[in-house]
Amino acid sequence: MFEIRHVQPEDIFPVIKIAFETLPERYSPEVFNRFYESFPEGFLIAEKHHKVIGFIVGIKTSNEAARITMLSVNKNYRKKGIGSTLLTQFLKEMTLQNIKQVELEVRINNDVAIKFYKKHGFDIIETVSSFYQTGEDAYIMKRVLRTR
Ligand SMILES: CC(C)(COP(=O)(O)OP(=O)(O)OC[C@H]1O[C@@H](n2cnc3c(N)ncnc32)[C@H](O)[C@@H]1OP(=O)(O)O)[C@@H](O)C(=O)NCCC(=O)NCCS
Repeated sequence: MFEIRHVQPEDIFPVIKIAFETLPERYSPEVFNRFYESFPEGFLIAEKHHKVIGFIVGIKTSNEAARITMLSVNKNYRKKGIGSTLLTQFLKEMTLQNIKQVELEVRINNDVAIKFYKKHGFDIIETVSSFYQTGEDAYIMKRVLRTR
């Protein structure tokens, strides 16, 4: 079994390691600290046997909107529902924060992530050309949250 909880400062290094191993974008360590300091409610980790095996980070973009900036699960632990549990818990947390809609960007060739987000009620609302530094295009996906 795994546990989902809010990130703590000591989790940041293992989170950076997962991001480095699994995400094409390169972020400096300060970026993770800034996410943690500015909106800790939107930074969750999945933990198993005291090991960080996945994480999700979101930021508030307005009083009522948030954006998922990163979501990743360690390769050895995928397809076991961990990404889904992280996302579901994140969306619950956003509802508690009075957030009404959540957006994210995803590479248009990241079929796994697109399928994953669609399964969780996100729709593609826009394509942004050359969104990434590599020149790749992004889909913007959005989900409206049910109000309490
Ligand atoms: C996207 C990601 C977070 C999914 O995490 P996960 O823990 O493996 O996902 P889950 O086990 O909760 O899967 C939920 C659903 O997503 C879809 N999915 C997940 N992995 C898939 C795969 N390899 N192929 C096809 N569909 C997949 C399926 O619909 C799955 O439901 P199912 O198990 O009933 O078929 C993970 O693949 C990952 O870390 N990818 C690399 C980073 C990334 O692309 N992040 C998102 C962009 S920021």
